[in-house]
Amino acid sequence: MTKERLTYLLTGGTGYIGSHTAVEMINNGYEVVIVDNLYNSSDVVVDRIEKITGIRPKFYPYDVRDKDTLRRVFEENSIEGVIHFAGLKSVGESVDRPLDYYRNNLDSTLSLLEIMKEFNVNNFVFSSSATVYGEGNPSPYTEDMPKGNCSNPYGWTKSMIEQILTDAAVANPELSVVLLRYFNPIGAHESGLIGEDPQGIPNNLMPYVSQVAIGRREKLTIFGNDYDTPDGTGERDFIHVVDLAEGHVKAIDYAKSHKGIEVFNLGTGNPYSVLDIVNTFMEVTGAEVKYEFGPRRAGDLAAVWADPSKSEKVLGWKATRDLRKMCEDTWNWQKNNPNGYKK
Ligand code: NAD
Ligand code: UD1
Repeated sequence: MTKERLTYLLTGGTGYIGSHTAVEMINNGYEVVIVDNLYNSSDVVVDRIEKITGIRPKFYPYDVRDKDTLRRVFEENSIEGVIHFAGLKSVGESVDRPLDYYRNNLDSTLSLLEIMKEFNVNNFVFSSSATVYGEGNPSPYTEDMPKGNCSNPYGWTKSMIEQILTDAAVANPELSVVLLRYFNPIGAHESGLIGEDPQGIPNNLMPYVSQVAIGRREKLTIFGNDYDTPDGTGERDFIHVVDLAEGHVKAIDYAKSHKGIEVFNLGTGNPYSVLDIVNTFMEVTGAEVKYEFGPRRAGDLAAVWADPSKSEKVLGWKATRDLRKMCEDTWNWQKNNPNGYKK
């Protein structure tokens, strides 16, 4: 007898984290349906997922906010649960265009929850961020710490959506919600077929480093070398995106067998500095990364890392890929796709 393949909807599934999660889900026997309006991704990703897994996920190029088209997706597929990746994610842009960020990120979540209710779908996993811990908490962050003030509208959308989901779970005892607070995902699938493909000038460290290495940018500016950290540069909890993707498969298992809302950190628990990243990247790849020191970036914290022990204990998940592997796989993706997904 063949086992029934459960179908999960991945909103934002052609994006960086969604595409890696789609691969892990398919490899774990799930059927994957993707809804993504391609605002920040490419439909080439669907081909690449098929190339890696041998299975083509169903893809709808829709906006998650549009309930009429979303309803069609639920009518055409027997959806067991949803992983909600879709959202705008650029911190700087969110400061300039706060209304777009609130409109897109909040509306997409509300539309999704309403349609899920119509179809009695009750498993929901949400892409939250370590940014919700705010400034007041010391690292390592544990899930029971109070949330803090976010330094930008993007962060507030995550914090507000966490609240919306908390209230929804109280009102509907059938609902199972898992909030995943990601730390700093980097790296790529080891095939080099999918990876992070930022549009324009990258805001985040690792894509910038790899674009300098490949010759697309002249040099990296390190934002501050006077922090109270061992080498003066900022420290973060960098996590391989495939480890992160595996965390989603565990989160789905958890959501299937629990009700209510639960929050989990997805990080390694090991802080590395900006200079650690640059030096390890150069060592592993042999590529040169020119850099200079500049002033601190507004809103940055000195050191941010996770206590991932709850995820290990409750989800049975632990990140296993080290910093060298993160650099190696980033470089493999960058070398094979110097211009990202552009043909
Ligand atoms: P991404 O931009 O690569 O993926 C998000 C996808 O959502 C994109 O493909 C985009 O086209 C799509 N999208 C946006 N709005 C949509 C809408 N209204 N309807 C349909 N599709 C829409 O980003 P990512 O890095 O893969 O991040 C995925 C999620 O994880 C986001 O919610 C992000 O805020 C969150 N997150 C990311 C990080 C990170 O460092 N990458 C850290 C913490 C949290
Ligand atoms: C940032 C966001 C966070 C978001 C996350 C993933 C801010 C304040 N925080 O986290 O809300 O969830 O991205 O999208 O923007 N750095 C440089 N030079 C660069 C780029 C970065 O030195 O060109 C440094 C930063 O100062 C920081 C570290 O590298 O110390 C990591 O930066 P980044 O990759 O942007 O991630 P976060 O700031 O941790």
